[in-house]
Formats: sequence, C-alpha cells, structure tokens
Amino acid sequence: MNEDQSGLTDRAAAAIRTRFGDAFPKTVIVLGSGWGRFAERLSNAASMSYADIPGFSRSTVAGHSGNLVVGNIVGLPLAVMQGRIHGYEGHLPQALAGPIRTLRKLGAERLILTNASGGLKRELPAGTLVIITDHINFCGFNPLVGPNDESIGPRFPDMSEAYDPELCGRLADAAREAGVPVKTGVYLFTLGPNFETPAEVRMFAALGADVVGMSTVPECLVARHCGMKVAALSLVTNLAAGLSTTPLTHQETLATATNSYEQVEALLLKFLRKKQF
Ligand code: HPA
Repeated sequence: MNEDQSGLTDRAAAAIRTRFGDAFPKTVIVLGSGWGRFAERLSNAASMSYADIPGFSRSTVAGHSGNLVVGNIVGLPLAVMQGRIHGYEGHLPQALAGPIRTLRKLGAERLILTNASGGLKRELPAGTLVIITDHINFCGFNPLVGPNDESIGPRFPDMSEAYDPELCGRLADAAREAGVPVKTGVYLFTLGPNFETPAEVRMFAALGADVVGMSTVPECLVARHCGMKVAALSLVTNLAAGLSTTPLTHQETLATATNSYEQVEALLLKFLRKKQF
C-alpha cells in the first residue's frame, strides 16, 4: 500500500469513528445481491452512506444499496456493508482493498461474506445455500497487486485456510439448529459481467469448483492479508449456463434471493447468536 492509500484508509476510519463512535464491532458482514434486507434486523442501528466515506464507492448494480450500518443483532455488535463494488464495474483491483482495510483499522476481526452464485452441478439448484470452504481465483484480478505494506500483511500471504474452518463449522451448526439445509463447496471467481458459456461451466466443474460468481474472492484475499478471519455463504440463484434451461438474468438472481430470504435470515441469526464471538 502506498502513502496515498494508507492516508485514504486513515481518513475513512476517521469519518466512520465520527459517525459511530470509537467502539467498532469486531464482526462485519457484507451483504451481496438480494441479501440487503438483513440490515433491517439490526437494533439501535445507525447508517452511513458509502458516498460519505473516503474510498468507499457505491455499486452501480441493482440490489446493492451502498450503506455501512452499525447496530446490534441478537445481542452482538455488528457492522453491515449493505452492498459491495465489483471488478466488472470497472473498479481497479486495489480499490476493493480500501474498505476492508479500513474496517480492519477500526478493529474488525472477522468478515462474513455473502453472495449469489450459479450452481455448477445439478445437485446445486436455485435456492441451495452453500458454505464456501475454498475458492479458485480464475480471473487473475487481485487487489493485493502493487507495493506491499508489511505493517498490514505479508507480501506472499498464505491461503491454506482462506475460509476459517471454525467459522465454517459454526455456520454448519447454525444451519442444523435453524433447520436450514446447507451444502459445502468451492467458489470459482470470474470477473464477469457476462454469465458463463456452457463450455466454461463444464470446465469450471472439471476444475473442482461447485459454484461460480463475480465477487467475494477479492474481499477474502484482502481480509486474509490483513489478518482477519473469513467465512462466506453463497446462495445459488440459478443453475449455471448449459445446466439451466432458460437464459440467465440478474432479475432471476434477485427473485431467487427474495424467495430464499427467510432461510438465509434464520441461518444468519442462529450463527450470530452463537455467543463465542
Ligand atoms: N454465474 C456467475 N455469477 C452468478 C451466477 C452465475 O450463474 N448467478 C448469480 N451470480
């Protein structure tokens, strides 16, 4: 990170402290396409538009409102990123690093990422919830490219446990307790914005991936680099191209997310209620 980026995260952290006070939650959840409603479950909540935080850009995508919300949920202080930016919107890879590093600077220790994805296997149809246990960065897009600031993290960060096994286990326990069926799987990251071709989908499945999507991996890389624990939950909103009988649309993604919302919420509430945090 060069001086400018460091200065930017300092200014962002100062703006957030001015709005929410000095005690920032240790747990942050990023809400992906169609998951934004979860922020309404926070009590004593205060919200800040990304437009008012240096280095936080508003997404141009429907379903991503662009607010940082801080409050309490089932007794736990929680910060919620309602919406995220994506590489396919034209943001430089490094621009995705700023918000996560800012939250780390404020004291956040764990990052829960949520997203929508396409199922690469018939056993993962629309409506399936998947705990992401590992990922494949298929597009080469990487927010850690550039000079490295050793005070933030190492030049060559280890990704053996990109998704924290204990948090994954807790997600599985929470799903069982909430009576919500879940699978586990590998998430493959494409830059997008187009959905995949059927040939790409066959290749991704052959490479060992279970679901495909256009987010999450950059945030995971930045968070692991700066020492945060990461967990990620994906909602399959469609079978991927070639497996699906209909053309894919973002409307379908949002509609499936809306239909599955109750289950998603039940699982997240159980997960966050687990007091060990
Ligand atoms: N491919 C990539 N990203 C997605 C998909 C898909 O099929 N569905 C939702 N996000």
